Amino acid sequence: MIKVEDLSFCYSQKGQQHWVLKDISFAVKTKESCAIIGPSGCGKSSLLFLLAGLLQPVQGKVQIAEKSRCGTILQNFGLFPWKTVYENVALGLVLQKVNKREAKPQVEQIIEEMGLSAFAQYYPGQLSGGMQQRVALARALVIRPDILLMDEPLSSLDALTRERLQNLILNVWQEKEVIPVVVTHSIEEAVFLGLQIIVLGSAPGRIIERVDNKEAGQVGYRQSSLFFQRCNMLRSALTEECNVC
Ligand SMILES: Nc1ncnc2c1ncn2[C@@H]1O[C@H](COP(=O)(O)OP(=O)(O)OP(=O)(O)O)[C@@H](O)[C@H]1O
Ligand SMILES: [Mg+2]
Repeated sequence: MIKVEDLSFCYSQKGQQHWVLKDISFAVKTKESCAIIGPSGCGKSSLLFLLAGLLQPVQGKVQIAEKSRCGTILQNFGLFPWKTVYENVALGLVLQKVNKREAKPQVEQIIEEMGLSAFAQYYPGQLSGGMQQRVALARALVIRPDILLMDEPLSSLDALTRERLQNLILNVWQEKEVIPVVVTHSIEEAVFLGLQIIVLGSAPGRIIERVDNKEAGQVGYRQSSLFFQRCNMLRSALTEECNVC
């Protein structure tokens, strides 16, 4: 579904190239999921922009299976402040030219799943950060994507809402066969959701570790000793990288 080959990327500023990602290769197949973790500034958001086609590789390539639909949640939510919650969520369907009557129950259902029914007519500026994050998630899900690209989608949520939405992402992955690609700073979230976990190092961002986490999403995994071992392993890899940089 997703194939990234020898991908390198730099931003050019005042004639100077600032390399952000170097030689990134990985693949995510149908029915799989992927978590991306790494220190702040290592290029995770840039990588997600490249996967979403919002940036183009400088070297190498990103291939996404033909006709697959990507739902994207950007780090700053990317909501339109002049549109209400309902209008923001409906946007993807409007762009797909789904007629309003057909769109209405789909939009209302996802807004309800996110616990936002009472706020459908609010504007993003009237919502808390966590509520805005849920609107962004609803907007990405309502188009029934094949791939769900998420940049720290749950970072502003309280612990319980975060767990509930992690379960929702899990459900979307396992029941609806949507491929989640989640950028996160949370080690536990990466281990809970990522069948494959990609650990990036910084300056420039490169893959320092790839963890095969085939138990991700299984019932009881979060409470198992293997889960804690994996978390500890990731923590060590990240600590080592942070000590170097
Ligand atoms: N539009 C831009 N122009 C120039 N440099 C940029 C731009 N966007 C990001 N960068 C630089 O690219 C590097 C990687 O940024 P990026 O946002 O991808 O990191 P990140 O891993 O998502 O960080 P965080 O965890 O803090 O969100 C940083 O050094 C940043 O300064
Ligand atoms: Mg980022």
